Amino acid sequence: MSLLKNPQLLRTQGFINGQWVDSTDQQTFPVYNPANNEIIAQCQSLGAEETKTAIECAHQALSGWTKTPAKERSRLLRAWFDLIIENETGLAQLMTLEQGKPLQEALGEVRYGASYIEWFAEEAKRLYGDQIPAASTQQRIITSKQAVGVVAAITPWNFPSAMITRKAGPALAAGCTLIIKPASETPLSALALAELANQAGIPKGVINVVIGSSSPIGGELTSNPTVRKLSFTGSTAIGKLLIRQCADTVKRTSMELGGNAPFIVFEDADLDVAVQGAISAKFRNAGQTCICANRLLVHDSIYDAFSSKLYEAMSKLSVGDGLQSDSTLGPLVSQKAVNDVQSLLDDALEKGAKAQSHPNTPDTACFFAPTVLTDISADMRINSEEIFGPIAPLFRFSSEQQAIEIANSTEYGLAAYAYTNDYRRMARLTDHLDFGMIGINEWAISNEAMPFGGVKESGTGREGSKYGIDEYIDIKTTVIGGFED
Ligand code: SIN
Repeated sequence: MSLLKNPQLLRTQGFINGQWVDSTDQQTFPVYNPANNEIIAQCQSLGAEETKTAIECAHQALSGWTKTPAKERSRLLRAWFDLIIENETGLAQLMTLEQGKPLQEALGEVRYGASYIEWFAEEAKRLYGDQIPAASTQQRIITSKQAVGVVAAITPWNFPSAMITRKAGPALAAGCTLIIKPASETPLSALALAELANQAGIPKGVINVVIGSSSPIGGELTSNPTVRKLSFTGSTAIGKLLIRQCADTVKRTSMELGGNAPFIVFEDADLDVAVQGAISAKFRNAGQTCICANRLLVHDSIYDAFSSKLYEAMSKLSVGDGLQSDSTLGPLVSQKAVNDVQSLLDDALEKGAKAQSHPNTPDTACFFAPTVLTDISADMRINSEEIFGPIAPLFRFSSEQQAIEIANSTEYGLAAYAYTNDYRRMARLTDHLDFGMIGINEWAISNEAMPFGGVKESGTGREGSKYGIDEYIDIKTTVIGGFED
Protein backbone atom coordinates (compact mmCIF):
# COMPACT_ATOMS: atom_id res chain seq x y z
CA MET A 1 0.00 0.00 0.00
CA SER A 2 2.98 2.30 -0.65
CA LEU A 3 0.66 4.13 -3.07
CA LEU A 4 -0.96 5.98 -0.19
CA LYS A 5 0.21 9.56 0.38
CA ASN A 6 -0.81 9.33 4.02
CA PRO A 7 -0.10 5.79 5.34
CA GLN A 8 -1.88 6.67 8.61
CA LEU A 9 -5.11 6.31 6.68
CA LEU A 10 -4.60 2.56 6.33
CA ARG A 11 -6.17 1.01 9.42
CA THR A 12 -7.10 -2.65 9.82
CA GLN A 13 -8.38 -2.79 13.42
CA GLY A 14 -11.76 -1.90 14.85
CA PHE A 15 -12.18 1.57 16.38
CA ILE A 16 -13.88 1.55 19.78
CA ASN A 17 -13.87 4.34 22.36
CA GLY A 18 -11.10 6.22 20.56
CA GLN A 19 -8.81 3.14 20.48
CA TRP A 20 -7.75 0.82 17.66
CA VAL A 21 -8.64 -2.68 18.81
CA ASP A 22 -7.98 -6.27 17.76
CA SER A 23 -10.49 -9.06 17.66
CA THR A 24 -10.61 -10.86 21.02
CA ASP A 25 -10.24 -14.25 19.31
CA GLN A 26 -7.49 -13.17 16.88
CA GLN A 27 -9.67 -13.71 13.78
CA THR A 28 -8.95 -11.73 10.61
CA PHE A 29 -10.55 -11.39 7.18
CA PRO A 30 -9.02 -10.39 3.84
CA VAL A 31 -9.90 -7.33 1.76
CA TYR A 32 -9.43 -7.81 -1.99
CA ASN A 33 -8.69 -5.50 -4.88
CA PRO A 34 -11.41 -6.51 -7.38
CA ALA A 35 -9.29 -5.29 -10.31
CA ASN A 36 -6.77 -8.13 -9.77
CA ASN A 37 -8.16 -10.27 -6.90
CA GLU A 38 -5.04 -9.58 -4.81
CA ILE A 39 -5.36 -9.25 -1.05
CA ILE A 40 -4.70 -5.64 -0.05
CA ALA A 41 -5.19 -5.96 3.71
CA GLN A 42 -6.03 -8.39 6.48
CA CYS A 43 -8.51 -6.81 8.88
CA GLN A 44 -9.44 -7.79 12.41
CA SER A 45 -12.71 -9.68 12.51
CA LEU A 46 -14.69 -8.39 15.48
CA GLY A 47 -17.87 -10.08 16.74
CA ALA A 48 -20.81 -9.73 19.10
CA GLU A 49 -18.67 -9.23 22.21
CA GLU A 50 -16.71 -6.31 20.77
CA THR A 51 -19.94 -4.86 19.37
CA LYS A 52 -21.46 -4.93 22.86
CA THR A 53 -18.41 -3.08 24.17
CA ALA A 54 -18.75 -0.49 21.40
CA ILE A 55 -22.43 0.02 22.31
CA GLU A 56 -21.55 0.51 25.99
CA CYS A 57 -18.84 3.03 25.07
CA ALA A 58 -21.21 4.90 22.75
CA HIS A 59 -23.71 4.99 25.60
CA GLN A 60 -21.14 6.36 28.05
CA ALA A 61 -20.17 9.06 25.55
CA LEU A 62 -23.78 10.04 24.90
CA SER A 63 -24.49 12.42 27.76
CA GLY A 64 -21.24 14.36 27.19
CA TRP A 65 -21.92 14.65 23.47
CA THR A 66 -25.58 15.72 23.78
CA LYS A 67 -24.54 18.34 26.35
CA THR A 68 -21.77 19.66 24.09
CA PRO A 69 -23.10 22.97 22.75
CA ALA A 70 -24.38 22.69 19.18
CA LYS A 71 -21.84 25.27 18.09
CA GLU A 72 -18.99 23.08 19.35
CA ARG A 73 -20.43 19.93 17.76
CA SER A 74 -20.66 21.93 14.57
CA ARG A 75 -17.01 23.04 14.87
CA LEU A 76 -15.84 19.45 15.35
CA LEU A 77 -17.84 18.23 12.37
CA ARG A 78 -16.39 21.04 10.28
CA ALA A 79 -12.86 20.04 11.40
CA TRP A 80 -13.63 16.47 10.29
CA PHE A 81 -14.88 17.75 6.92
CA ASP A 82 -11.69 19.81 6.46
CA LEU A 83 -9.49 16.77 7.17
CA ILE A 84 -11.46 14.61 4.73
CA ILE A 85 -10.92 17.20 2.01
CA GLU A 86 -7.22 17.56 2.92
CA ASN A 87 -6.86 13.79 2.57
CA GLU A 88 -9.15 13.32 -0.41
CA THR A 89 -6.51 11.80 -2.68
CA GLY A 90 -5.50 9.14 -0.15
CA LEU A 91 -9.12 8.36 0.64
CA ALA A 92 -9.94 8.03 -3.06
CA GLN A 93 -6.97 5.67 -3.61
CA LEU A 94 -8.08 3.46 -0.74
CA MET A 95 -11.60 3.39 -2.13
CA THR A 96 -10.47 2.45 -5.63
CA LEU A 97 -8.27 -0.29 -4.23
CA GLU A 98 -11.00 -1.93 -2.17
CA GLN A 99 -14.09 -1.16 -4.27
CA GLY A 100 -12.80 -0.88 -7.83
CA LYS A 101 -14.40 2.39 -9.00
CA PRO A 102 -12.15 4.64 -11.11
CA LEU A 103 -10.04 7.12 -9.16
CA GLN A 104 -11.93 10.18 -10.47
CA GLU A 105 -15.21 8.63 -9.44
CA ALA A 106 -13.76 7.72 -6.03
CA LEU A 107 -12.59 11.31 -5.60
CA GLY A 108 -16.08 12.46 -6.54
CA GLU A 109 -17.53 10.18 -3.87
CA VAL A 110 -15.11 11.41 -1.19
CA ARG A 111 -16.15 15.02 -1.91
CA TYR A 112 -19.84 14.11 -2.20
CA GLY A 113 -19.59 12.21 1.10
CA ALA A 114 -17.75 15.05 2.82
CA SER A 115 -20.45 17.50 1.75
CA TYR A 116 -22.88 15.75 4.14
CA ILE A 117 -20.54 16.40 7.06
CA GLU A 118 -20.23 20.05 6.06
CA TRP A 119 -23.99 20.40 5.55
CA PHE A 120 -24.92 18.85 8.90
CA ALA A 121 -22.19 20.80 10.70
CA GLU A 122 -24.27 23.81 9.68
CA GLU A 123 -27.63 22.17 10.50
CA ALA A 124 -26.41 21.27 14.02
CA LYS A 125 -26.91 24.91 15.00
CA ARG A 126 -30.47 25.06 13.69
CA LEU A 127 -32.32 22.42 15.70
CA TYR A 128 -35.13 24.71 16.75
CA GLY A 129 -38.03 23.79 19.01
CA ASP A 130 -41.45 25.52 19.11
CA GLN A 131 -43.75 27.23 21.49
CA ILE A 132 -47.27 26.10 20.65
CA PRO A 133 -50.33 28.28 21.38
CA ALA A 134 -52.15 26.65 24.30
CA ALA A 135 -55.92 26.27 24.67
CA SER A 136 -55.69 27.59 28.22
CA THR A 137 -53.96 30.77 29.36
CA GLN A 138 -52.71 28.79 32.35
CA GLN A 139 -50.47 26.63 30.20
CA ARG A 140 -47.33 27.01 28.13
CA ILE A 141 -46.56 24.27 25.57
CA ILE A 142 -42.98 23.90 24.46
CA THR A 143 -41.37 21.35 22.16
CA SER A 144 -37.67 20.63 22.03
CA LYS A 145 -35.61 18.38 19.78
CA GLN A 146 -33.56 15.70 21.45
CA ALA A 147 -31.03 13.19 20.13
CA VAL A 148 -32.56 9.72 19.79
CA GLY A 149 -29.51 8.27 21.57
CA VAL A 150 -27.08 5.57 20.50
CA VAL A 151 -27.37 4.93 16.75
CA ALA A 152 -26.19 1.96 14.69
CA ALA A 153 -25.33 2.45 11.01
CA ILE A 154 -24.96 -0.57 8.73
CA THR A 155 -23.47 0.55 5.44
CA PRO A 156 -22.88 -0.99 1.98
CA TRP A 157 -19.84 -1.53 -0.23
CA ASN A 158 -21.05 0.43 -3.26
CA PHE A 159 -20.40 3.84 -1.65
CA PRO A 160 -17.87 2.97 1.07
CA SER A 161 -17.52 6.57 2.23
CA ALA A 162 -20.66 8.54 1.34
CA MET A 163 -23.14 6.08 2.84
CA ILE A 164 -21.30 6.51 6.16
CA THR A 165 -21.07 10.29 6.12
CA ARG A 166 -24.72 10.60 5.05
CA LYS A 167 -25.63 8.93 8.35
CA ALA A 168 -22.80 10.12 10.60
CA GLY A 169 -23.27 13.81 9.68
CA PRO A 170 -26.88 14.14 10.86
CA ALA A 171 -26.49 11.66 13.74
CA LEU A 172 -23.57 13.55 15.28
CA ALA A 173 -25.10 16.94 14.53
CA ALA A 174 -28.24 15.89 16.43
CA GLY A 175 -26.17 14.78 19.44
CA CYS A 176 -26.32 11.02 18.88
CA THR A 177 -23.35 8.69 19.28
CA LEU A 178 -22.67 6.09 16.64
CA ILE A 179 -21.53 2.54 15.93
CA ILE A 180 -20.76 1.94 12.26
CA LYS A 181 -20.67 -1.53 10.71
CA PRO A 182 -19.23 -1.14 7.20
CA ALA A 183 -19.46 -3.84 4.54
CA SER A 184 -16.70 -6.45 4.81
CA GLU A 185 -15.72 -5.86 1.16
CA THR A 186 -14.85 -2.20 1.89
CA PRO A 187 -13.91 -1.61 5.55
CA LEU A 188 -10.78 0.47 4.79
CA SER A 189 -12.63 3.66 3.76
CA ALA A 190 -14.70 3.49 6.95
CA LEU A 191 -11.64 3.04 9.14
CA ALA A 192 -9.84 5.91 7.40
CA LEU A 193 -12.85 8.15 8.11
CA ALA A 194 -12.69 7.12 11.78
CA GLU A 195 -8.97 7.96 11.87
CA LEU A 196 -9.73 11.45 10.55
CA ALA A 197 -12.65 11.90 12.98
CA ASN A 198 -10.22 11.07 15.78
CA GLN A 199 -7.65 13.54 14.43
CA ALA A 200 -10.42 16.17 14.22
CA GLY A 201 -10.94 15.85 17.98
CA ILE A 202 -14.36 14.15 17.99
CA PRO A 203 -14.47 12.75 21.55
CA LYS A 204 -13.84 9.07 22.25
CA GLY A 205 -16.89 6.83 22.06
CA VAL A 206 -18.83 9.24 19.83
CA ILE A 207 -17.85 7.33 16.67
CA ASN A 208 -17.04 3.62 16.78
CA VAL A 209 -16.39 1.28 13.86
CA VAL A 210 -16.93 -2.46 14.23
CA ILE A 211 -15.63 -4.58 11.36
CA GLY A 212 -16.16 -8.29 10.74
CA SER A 213 -18.87 -10.77 9.95
CA SER A 214 -22.36 -9.29 9.53
CA SER A 215 -24.53 -11.76 11.47
CA PRO A 216 -22.99 -11.53 14.96
CA ILE A 217 -22.40 -7.77 14.70
CA GLY A 218 -25.81 -7.03 13.18
CA GLY A 219 -27.46 -9.37 15.69
CA GLU A 220 -26.01 -7.44 18.64
CA LEU A 221 -26.70 -4.02 17.10
CA THR A 222 -30.35 -4.88 16.47
CA SER A 223 -31.10 -6.76 19.71
CA ASN A 224 -29.25 -4.57 22.21
CA PRO A 225 -31.81 -2.26 23.89
CA THR A 226 -29.26 0.53 24.35
CA VAL A 227 -29.22 1.10 20.59
CA ARG A 228 -32.25 3.32 19.90
CA LYS A 229 -32.01 3.64 16.16
CA LEU A 230 -30.75 1.71 13.16
CA SER A 231 -29.97 3.34 9.85
CA PHE A 232 -29.32 0.86 7.05
CA THR A 233 -28.42 1.11 3.38
CA GLY A 234 -28.50 -2.13 1.43
CA SER A 235 -30.82 -4.68 -0.12
CA THR A 236 -34.55 -4.87 0.55
CA ALA A 237 -34.20 -8.50 1.70
CA ILE A 238 -31.66 -7.60 4.41
CA GLY A 239 -33.59 -4.44 5.29
CA LYS A 240 -36.71 -6.52 6.02
CA LEU A 241 -34.68 -8.87 8.20
CA LEU A 242 -33.18 -5.98 10.16
CA ILE A 243 -36.59 -4.34 10.66
CA ARG A 244 -37.84 -7.64 12.12
CA GLN A 245 -34.77 -7.88 14.35
CA CYS A 246 -35.33 -4.31 15.58
CA ALA A 247 -38.98 -4.95 16.44
CA ASP A 248 -38.39 -6.54 19.83
CA THR A 249 -36.70 -3.43 21.20
CA VAL A 250 -38.92 -1.05 19.15
CA LYS A 251 -36.00 0.81 17.60
CA ARG A 252 -36.48 3.58 15.12
CA THR A 253 -35.26 2.58 11.70
CA SER A 254 -34.32 4.37 8.49
CA MET A 255 -34.05 2.08 5.50
CA GLU A 256 -32.47 2.98 2.19
CA LEU A 257 -33.12 -0.20 0.24
CA GLY A 258 -33.21 -1.56 -3.28
CA GLY A 259 -34.44 0.11 -6.44
CA ASN A 260 -35.64 -0.87 -9.88
CA ALA A 261 -35.39 2.54 -11.53
CA PRO A 262 -37.20 3.14 -14.80
CA PHE A 263 -35.44 5.43 -17.28
CA ILE A 264 -38.12 6.59 -19.74
CA VAL A 265 -37.20 8.11 -23.09
CA PHE A 266 -40.17 9.78 -24.77
CA GLU A 267 -40.47 10.39 -28.49
CA ASP A 268 -39.96 14.16 -28.02
CA ALA A 269 -36.74 13.80 -26.00
CA ASP A 270 -33.42 15.18 -27.15
CA LEU A 271 -31.88 11.82 -28.02
CA ASP A 272 -28.24 12.76 -27.43
CA VAL A 273 -29.04 14.24 -24.03
CA ALA A 274 -31.01 11.10 -23.15
CA VAL A 275 -28.15 8.83 -24.26
CA GLN A 276 -25.63 10.76 -22.15
CA GLY A 277 -28.05 10.62 -19.22
CA ALA A 278 -28.45 6.87 -19.68
CA ILE A 279 -24.69 6.34 -19.76
CA SER A 280 -24.33 8.07 -16.39
CA ALA A 281 -27.50 6.73 -14.78
CA LYS A 282 -26.74 3.17 -15.89
CA PHE A 283 -22.95 2.76 -15.88
CA ARG A 284 -21.88 5.01 -12.98
CA ASN A 285 -20.13 2.84 -10.36
CA ALA A 286 -20.32 -0.04 -12.89
CA GLY A 287 -24.09 -0.09 -12.43
CA GLN A 288 -23.79 -0.74 -8.70
CA THR A 289 -26.01 1.96 -7.20
CA CYS A 290 -29.55 1.66 -5.85
CA ILE A 291 -30.61 4.49 -8.14
CA CYS A 292 -29.01 3.14 -11.32
CA ALA A 293 -31.34 2.95 -14.32
CA ASN A 294 -32.54 -0.65 -14.18
CA ARG A 295 -35.16 -0.65 -16.95
CA LEU A 296 -34.73 1.66 -19.94
CA LEU A 297 -38.20 2.25 -21.41
CA VAL A 298 -37.94 3.68 -24.89
CA HIS A 299 -40.75 4.90 -27.15
CA ASP A 300 -41.30 2.57 -30.13
CA SER A 301 -40.64 5.31 -32.68
CA ILE A 302 -37.09 6.00 -31.43
CA TYR A 303 -36.19 2.56 -30.01
CA ASP A 304 -33.75 1.54 -32.76
CA ALA A 305 -32.07 4.95 -32.95
CA PHE A 306 -31.69 5.12 -29.16
CA SER A 307 -30.38 1.58 -28.95
CA SER A 308 -27.63 2.13 -31.54
CA LYS A 309 -26.60 5.51 -30.08
CA LEU A 310 -26.47 3.98 -26.60
CA TYR A 311 -24.30 1.12 -27.79
CA GLU A 312 -21.97 3.55 -29.58
CA ALA A 313 -21.60 5.72 -26.44
CA MET A 314 -21.17 2.65 -24.22
CA SER A 315 -18.40 1.31 -26.45
CA LYS A 316 -16.39 4.47 -25.76
CA LEU A 317 -16.23 3.73 -22.03
CA SER A 318 -12.73 2.78 -21.02
CA VAL A 319 -13.03 -0.33 -18.85
CA GLY A 320 -9.98 -1.06 -16.72
CA ASP A 321 -8.24 -0.91 -13.36
CA GLY A 322 -9.56 2.16 -11.56
CA LEU A 323 -6.04 3.26 -10.68
CA GLN A 324 -5.22 3.76 -14.37
CA SER A 325 -5.91 7.39 -15.17
CA ASP A 326 -7.89 6.70 -18.36
CA SER A 327 -10.34 4.17 -16.83
CA THR A 328 -13.95 5.33 -16.76
CA LEU A 329 -15.47 2.05 -15.60
CA GLY A 330 -13.92 -0.39 -13.14
CA PRO A 331 -14.59 -4.00 -12.14
CA LEU A 332 -17.56 -5.19 -10.09
CA VAL A 333 -16.86 -5.38 -6.38
CA SER A 334 -16.42 -9.16 -6.06
CA GLN A 335 -16.64 -12.52 -7.78
CA LYS A 336 -20.07 -13.00 -6.15
CA ALA A 337 -21.26 -9.79 -7.79
CA VAL A 338 -19.97 -11.04 -11.16
CA ASN A 339 -21.79 -14.38 -10.72
CA ASP A 340 -25.06 -12.65 -9.75
CA VAL A 341 -25.03 -10.31 -12.76
CA GLN A 342 -23.95 -13.12 -15.10
CA SER A 343 -26.86 -15.26 -13.94
CA LEU A 344 -29.35 -12.46 -14.79
CA LEU A 345 -27.74 -12.09 -18.21
CA ASP A 346 -27.76 -15.86 -18.87
CA ASP A 347 -31.45 -16.04 -17.95
CA ALA A 348 -32.31 -13.23 -20.37
CA LEU A 349 -30.21 -14.74 -23.18
CA GLU A 350 -31.75 -18.18 -22.70
CA LYS A 351 -35.19 -16.60 -23.02
CA GLY A 352 -34.36 -14.82 -26.28
CA ALA A 353 -32.79 -11.45 -25.41
CA LYS A 354 -30.13 -10.06 -27.76
CA ALA A 355 -26.90 -8.69 -26.26
CA GLN A 356 -24.38 -6.20 -27.60
CA SER A 357 -21.36 -6.12 -25.33
CA HIS A 358 -18.54 -3.64 -24.80
CA PRO A 359 -15.76 -4.55 -27.26
CA ASN A 360 -12.70 -4.53 -25.01
CA THR A 361 -13.43 -5.30 -21.39
CA PRO A 362 -10.63 -7.20 -19.59
CA ASP A 363 -11.54 -10.84 -19.14
CA THR A 364 -9.89 -11.08 -15.72
CA ALA A 365 -10.64 -10.68 -12.01
CA CYS A 366 -14.05 -9.03 -11.41
CA PHE A 367 -14.48 -7.21 -14.72
CA PHE A 368 -17.86 -7.49 -16.41
CA ALA A 369 -18.50 -6.25 -19.93
CA PRO A 370 -21.09 -3.43 -20.16
CA THR A 371 -23.97 -4.74 -22.26
CA VAL A 372 -27.00 -3.35 -24.07
CA LEU A 373 -29.84 -5.87 -24.06
CA THR A 374 -32.80 -5.79 -26.45
CA ASP A 375 -35.79 -8.08 -27.16
CA ILE A 376 -36.71 -8.34 -23.49
CA SER A 377 -39.78 -10.39 -22.55
CA ALA A 378 -41.94 -10.43 -19.43
CA ASP A 379 -40.71 -13.81 -18.19
CA MET A 380 -37.10 -12.67 -17.84
CA ARG A 381 -35.76 -12.09 -14.31
CA ILE A 382 -34.18 -8.85 -15.49
CA ASN A 383 -37.70 -7.36 -15.64
CA SER A 384 -38.20 -7.41 -11.93
CA GLU A 385 -34.81 -7.85 -10.24
CA GLU A 386 -32.29 -5.18 -9.38
CA ILE A 387 -29.35 -5.75 -11.76
CA PHE A 388 -26.54 -4.05 -9.80
CA GLY A 389 -24.22 -4.32 -12.78
CA PRO A 390 -23.52 -2.72 -16.18
CA ILE A 391 -26.38 -4.24 -18.18
CA ALA A 392 -28.84 -1.89 -19.89
CA PRO A 393 -32.08 -3.70 -20.82
CA LEU A 394 -34.19 -1.76 -23.33
CA PHE A 395 -38.00 -2.11 -23.20
CA ARG A 396 -40.50 -0.68 -25.70
CA PHE A 397 -43.62 1.39 -25.00
CA SER A 398 -46.09 3.17 -27.24
CA SER A 399 -47.96 5.65 -25.00
CA GLU A 400 -47.29 7.81 -21.96
CA GLN A 401 -49.88 5.92 -19.93
CA GLN A 402 -48.27 2.59 -20.79
CA ALA A 403 -44.81 3.93 -19.85
CA ILE A 404 -46.10 5.08 -16.45
CA GLU A 405 -47.82 1.74 -15.85
CA ILE A 406 -44.68 -0.23 -16.69
CA ALA A 407 -42.54 2.13 -14.61
CA ASN A 408 -44.78 1.71 -11.55
CA SER A 409 -45.20 -2.06 -11.90
CA THR A 410 -42.59 -2.87 -9.29
CA GLU A 411 -42.54 -3.26 -5.53
CA TYR A 412 -39.66 -0.76 -5.49
CA GLY A 413 -40.00 3.03 -5.48
CA LEU A 414 -36.62 4.69 -5.13
CA ALA A 415 -35.71 6.65 -8.27
CA ALA A 416 -37.15 7.22 -11.74
CA TYR A 417 -35.83 9.17 -14.73
CA ALA A 418 -37.65 10.59 -17.73
CA TYR A 419 -36.46 12.44 -20.82
CA THR A 420 -39.02 14.66 -22.57
CA ASN A 421 -39.40 18.25 -23.72
CA ASP A 422 -43.14 18.47 -23.03
CA TYR A 423 -43.60 20.54 -19.85
CA ARG A 424 -47.18 19.35 -19.29
CA ARG A 425 -45.94 15.78 -19.40
CA MET A 426 -43.24 16.68 -16.85
CA ALA A 427 -45.96 17.72 -14.42
CA ARG A 428 -47.97 14.54 -15.08
CA LEU A 429 -44.87 12.40 -14.50
CA THR A 430 -44.18 14.17 -11.21
CA ASP A 431 -47.74 13.38 -10.13
CA HIS A 432 -47.98 9.79 -11.33
CA LEU A 433 -44.58 8.14 -10.98
CA ASP A 434 -44.54 6.34 -7.61
CA PHE A 435 -40.93 6.99 -6.65
CA GLY A 436 -39.16 8.98 -3.93
CA MET A 437 -36.89 10.78 -6.42
CA ILE A 438 -37.52 11.73 -10.04
CA GLY A 439 -34.98 13.11 -12.49
CA ILE A 440 -36.48 14.82 -15.56
CA ASN A 441 -33.86 15.43 -18.25
CA GLU A 442 -31.39 14.92 -15.39
CA TRP A 443 -29.54 11.90 -14.05
CA ALA A 444 -27.75 13.63 -11.13
CA ILE A 445 -30.41 13.46 -8.46
CA SER A 446 -28.40 13.24 -5.28
CA ASN A 447 -26.46 15.79 -3.30
CA GLU A 448 -26.39 16.98 0.29
CA ALA A 449 -29.19 19.53 -0.25
CA MET A 450 -31.64 17.01 -1.77
CA PRO A 451 -33.72 14.57 0.27
CA PHE A 452 -32.67 11.04 -0.70
CA GLY A 453 -35.02 8.11 -0.09
CA GLY A 454 -37.73 5.90 -1.46
CA VAL A 455 -41.31 4.75 -1.13
CA LYS A 456 -42.86 1.24 -1.16
CA GLU A 457 -40.23 -1.48 -0.55
CA SER A 458 -37.38 0.90 -1.31
CA GLY A 459 -37.44 2.05 2.27
CA THR A 460 -38.35 4.66 4.82
CA GLY A 461 -36.81 7.96 5.86
CA ARG A 462 -34.80 10.58 4.02
CA GLU A 463 -31.06 11.30 4.04
CA GLY A 464 -29.46 14.65 3.37
CA SER A 465 -31.29 17.99 3.03
CA LYS A 466 -33.09 19.90 5.77
CA TYR A 467 -35.11 16.73 6.49
CA GLY A 468 -32.19 14.34 7.08
CA ILE A 469 -31.60 15.34 10.70
CA ASP A 470 -35.23 14.50 11.63
CA GLU A 471 -34.28 10.81 11.47
CA TYR A 472 -32.01 11.32 14.49
CA ILE A 473 -34.20 13.44 16.75
CA ASP A 474 -37.17 12.87 19.00
CA ILE A 475 -39.60 15.69 19.67
CA LYS A 476 -40.18 16.23 23.36
CA THR A 477 -43.31 18.10 24.51
CA THR A 478 -43.28 19.97 27.81
CA VAL A 479 -46.50 21.46 29.17
CA ILE A 480 -46.05 23.93 32.02
CA GLY A 481 -49.20 24.64 33.99
CA GLY A 482 -50.12 27.01 36.76
CA PHE A 483 -49.73 30.32 34.94
CA GLU A 484 -52.09 33.07 35.98
CA ASP A 485 -54.88 34.18 33.60
C1 SIN B 1 -27.11 4.31 -3.33
O1 SIN B 1 -26.88 3.54 -4.23
O2 SIN B 1 -27.73 3.96 -2.33
C2 SIN B 1 -26.62 5.72 -3.32
C3 SIN B 1 -26.61 6.34 -4.62
C4 SIN B 1 -26.10 7.74 -4.60
O3 SIN B 1 -25.97 8.37 -3.55
O4 SIN B 1 -25.86 8.26 -5.68
